[in-house]
Amino acid sequence: MTFTGVTRSYGAVRAVDGLELTIAPGETVALLGRNGAGKSTTLNMLLGLLPPTEGEVRLFGGTPESAVRAGRVGAMLQDGKPVPRVTVRELVGFVAATYPRPMDVDEALALAGLDAFAGRRIDRLSGGQAQRVRFAVALAGNPELLVLDEPTAALDVEARRAFWTSMRGYARRGNTVLFSTHYLEEADEHADRIVVLDRGRVAADGSGAELRRRAGSALVSLDLGGAGSAPLAGLPGVSAVEIHGDRARLRSTDPDATVRALADLDLIRGLQVAPASLEDAFLALTAATPPATGTRPAKETV
Ligand SMILES: Nc1ncnc2c1ncn2[C@@H]1O[C@H](COP(=O)(O)OP(=O)(O)OP(=O)(O)O)[C@@H](O)[C@H]1O
Ligand SMILES: [Mg+2]
Repeated sequence: MTFTGVTRSYGAVRAVDGLELTIAPGETVALLGRNGAGKSTTLNMLLGLLPPTEGEVRLFGGTPESAVRAGRVGAMLQDGKPVPRVTVRELVGFVAATYPRPMDVDEALALAGLDAFAGRRIDRLSGGQAQRVRFAVALAGNPELLVLDEPTAALDVEARRAFWTSMRGYARRGNTVLFSTHYLEEADEHADRIVVLDRGRVAADGSGAELRRRAGSALVSLDLGGAGSAPLAGLPGVSAVEIHGDRARLRSTDPDATVRALADLDLIRGLQVAPASLEDAFLALTAATPPATGTRPAKETV
């Protein structure tokens, strides 16, 4: 699939802003970004549910609409409302029947961890159970591409683990998976590739390890002991400096060189060196600029 120069505006808000992204068959890709970064907008355009304002989205060599119509795509949307008054099995069966080469309904129910709820009415499920139904619905058509918008948002620990086991089994069959999440560990653990969106643009694209490296390989912190922070930014390897009270936190791409330079300055009180986490990387990649402005309601009520 390819996004070429894709922009989507809502009035003055550029939800997606000149997006360039290519995903190859068989890849499992995580889409990360803060609230409002443009993840859902991107996924909805990929599914043909939302036309781009500018640019082009291609899926399996054609338009998103034709790929979806051919039953090659399964989706789990962030705001999908399940149909009430039918049972889980009926709903998954209805959906499966609309696809040319559907998955066996029992297999879809089992993969989504719904065996025990197959006969339960949809409107009598808990939030996490309803979420599993949305996953079963996404699987029902046996699609080549699964598009999942925050698939684990409402799931408990056990359901989350079961979900990822199913998802990986599905990906191992050669299918492509694109999912969004706010859980960095999930992206790191379950995706081959992480795409970080920031205000509608790709802020970073690579494996979890690559993103950590990009953010600086380590965090070096120390007590200033009254010394000024002025020389810190110029030290070897240092890519960013944060001061919290008397403590300085340096992001460093070469922690050995940074520590040696600190020792030369006799700034080694309370010295700590820690590898950068994916969270550090994510914050460094998305926090550099203020969030997009939004309109506030005139009156705020609780
Ligand atoms: N229908 C809409 N009308 C107006 N603005 C919208 C609409 N949908 C989204 N937006 C705006 O577009 C931007 C991107 O929204 P989007 O839903 O794609 O973000 P997201 O990355 O999925 O966020 P979240 O993590 O909260 O789900 C936000 O600023 C949002 O307010
Ligand atoms: Mg969203």
